[in-house]
Amino acid sequence: MAAPARGMAVGVAGAGAAGARGVRIAGTGRHAPEGRLTNADLEKMMDTSDEWIVQRTGIRERRVCDPTKGESTTEICTLALKKALADARMDPKELDLLILGTVTGEMTCPSTACRVAAAVGAGDAGAFDLMAACSGFVYGLNIAHDLIRAGSYRNVAVVGCDVMSKVMDYENRNVAVLFGDAAGAAVLRATDDPGKGMIAGTMRADGSKWQELYLPQAERDFPPGADRTAVKVDALQMNGREVYKFAVGTFSRVIEQTLDRAGVKASDVDMFVCHQSNARMLESARDRFGVPPEKFYINIDRYGNCSAGSVPVCLDELREQGRCREGELVMFVAFGGGLTWAASLWRL
Ligand code: ACO
Repeated sequence: MAAPARGMAVGVAGAGAAGARGVRIAGTGRHAPEGRLTNADLEKMMDTSDEWIVQRTGIRERRVCDPTKGESTTEICTLALKKALADARMDPKELDLLILGTVTGEMTCPSTACRVAAAVGAGDAGAFDLMAACSGFVYGLNIAHDLIRAGSYRNVAVVGCDVMSKVMDYENRNVAVLFGDAAGAAVLRATDDPGKGMIAGTMRADGSKWQELYLPQAERDFPPGADRTAVKVDALQMNGREVYKFAVGTFSRVIEQTLDRAGVKASDVDMFVCHQSNARMLESARDRFGVPPEKFYINIDRYGNCSAGSVPVCLDELREQGRCREGELVMFVAFGGGLTWAASLWRL
């Protein structure tokens, strides 16, 4: 076997190592707030059009939290995780650890994960937030998998959630049309079947490009040369063209590397569950690998880009439709602020 690409982990699922434990995705859940922000709504708020948004991004509407109703990152994560626990038929007290991927938690201390763990009744399970922007859920999945595989924990919840509406500048049409709010959760469980779990995965970052996509918390965070009349504190800043270029290249490369490491072809994969950043980008990656539409899930039309919430919401919708079944080969892929990117190929 060739040496793995730098940062590319190769799991043992399928290797049948004697006595090794496998990892199952035992349950999933999602929650998106009721509030809808359609392209027609945005047309009334800024100089944009349904035609422009649909053609460039594929987005038709997004869900948005209403803070006056108490909707928050903590609340939607809690609702998603409760559904995932029920789906896994797991008592919350059985959880050993909760990893929550988000960049829009209520506070930096305590972590949102601690509050969600308390809200679902997870006893004294460990809990922490993981900040990898849109890659947060896939980073969490890889970490949770390896902790279970290594024997450190048996039951780990991974939640991905962002409430992007609270960091949107609705005067900035370049960014505001793209994002929405949602949470998704997966409950991972140790199994005696070593054939189940991650076969190959990766987590990478290039911090030298941080200023292409960032969320300033004070003026001191603005990069040198930033147009201070245009950028705002607590509002997501994005260089759309640069992020698009990065994402298109990275997306294909990370899929290719993960397939190579696992020794499988794109046509062997039963489902690609990818971060929903732009329908054009997803369709071009799908076409590049010759994957039919039914094996490459896209729901960005209904949610927009929900950052760390995108991938777990897709996964839960797929399982609800009877897709992503036990025994299938499923690839998770994400990329986002940092810049970060991650992939995880699983035998479910
Ligand atoms: N409505 C109407 N016109 C618009 C809008 C809008 N909402 N936004 C921009 N425009 C205009 C621009 O001003 C520009 O006009 P000009 O030619 O007169 O200057 C024109 O449309 C074209 O703008 P571009 O930025 O070149 O448009 P592009 O085709 O690149 O699409 C987009 C922009 C959709 C943002 C694209 O660059 C993209 O998808 N980028 C990646 C975004 C992304 O994935 N971000 C998230 C990463 S994950 C994370 O961690 C959050």
